[in-house]
Amino acid sequence: MLETIPAAPRDAILGLTAAFREDPRSEKINLSVGVYQDETGKTPTLECVRIAEQRLVESAAGKSYLPIPGAPEYAEVVQELAFGATHEVVTSGRIASAHTPGGTGALRVAGDFLKSNLPSATIWMSEPTWPNHGNIFAAAGVPAKSYAYFDQESNGLAIGPMLEAIKQMPAGDVILLHGCCHNPTGIDPTPEQWKQIAEAVRDRGLLPLLDFAYQGFAEGIDEDAVGLRAFSQPGSEMIVCSSFSKNFGLYRERVGSLSIVCPNADVASAIQSQINSAIRANYSNPPAHGAAIVNCVLRDEALRKTWEKEVATMRSRINDTRKQFVDALTAKGVPGDYSFITRQRGMFSFSGLTKEQVEVLREKYAIYIVGSGRINVAGLTPANIDRVAEAIAVVVGPAA
Ligand code: LMR
Repeated sequence: MLETIPAAPRDAILGLTAAFREDPRSEKINLSVGVYQDETGKTPTLECVRIAEQRLVESAAGKSYLPIPGAPEYAEVVQELAFGATHEVVTSGRIASAHTPGGTGALRVAGDFLKSNLPSATIWMSEPTWPNHGNIFAAAGVPAKSYAYFDQESNGLAIGPMLEAIKQMPAGDVILLHGCCHNPTGIDPTPEQWKQIAEAVRDRGLLPLLDFAYQGFAEGIDEDAVGLRAFSQPGSEMIVCSSFSKNFGLYRERVGSLSIVCPNADVASAIQSQINSAIRANYSNPPAHGAAIVNCVLRDEALRKTWEKEVATMRSRINDTRKQFVDALTAKGVPGDYSFITRQRGMFSFSGLTKEQVEVLREKYAIYIVGSGRINVAGLTPANIDRVAEAIAVVVGPAA
């Protein structure tokens, strides 16, 4: 039976990391997967995480199952972090939520929830978007379409076409937005544009779904929630999929959360039961360790301060690296104006490199970049930045 099954295509991002691991060339550089590296090229375990883990070991909590949606105290800190502790959506108790295995787990539970409960809804995704968005909603059986997002000419947000597209979406559909640090473009709406988008989404009767994987990587922990909070009006509905892979450096612990904001607490209780059904049929209940770390850090004043400082350090290293990268490209004589790289936010730079140029970089120079031309700026270090700029100068070629 199994002999006729063909191999699946390689994953656009994690498949590249697998190929990178197998690459025997010692000079290889991985700028594909969105994982933060410090200036020495290491992905650090945050100090706040190290201390929290020590405390967890000492507390020797039991290993029995967690409830289906995870620990209630984790749900509470996650909601407060995303919306603000005193925000009406939190204090009114109208959020149904679950601790999920990573942001990807949250998206998949959201997909299953939509398929079961809003079966005629289509999900609209930005063009471009994170390649796994397509995989996740296809696997859940939710039909997907795309809307204009990126304006190549200005290297900015195509706000006009985006608002026009929203006006054409059928009421009752779902629109997927990136809460901050849009992946792959690094282009976010301004606070004013977020208000316009939220208003258009509300007027059209769409359900917003925010993928919120990079809180703290653009401007600050609270500042980066401006988009999400633009949607948090009295009686509003929305889905938020959070991840703590990046801002806690907890990638392999798979820590995320699904929050469904409902019009009132009674609706939230019904929605909670539907989320629980979706999870029970999927992974039953979540893994405990990563969420226990996040809970411990966010509830301890000193640890929380350490965490905020560590997030700020990662953010400023990425922003400094953006400037150094532009300088290096200019110094190596790459034709064109690359100053847009300093305006992009979060880990990624949508470089404008073509698929063919990306292939040459990998094959000839052992530099791994996602096929869309997305570069993980957090993978550039003082030791590799010049070599990357030099290789880009060769593949791009002299100005015409
Ligand atoms: C990325 O976009 O590189 C990250 O979100 C990691 C992943 O799972 O793709």
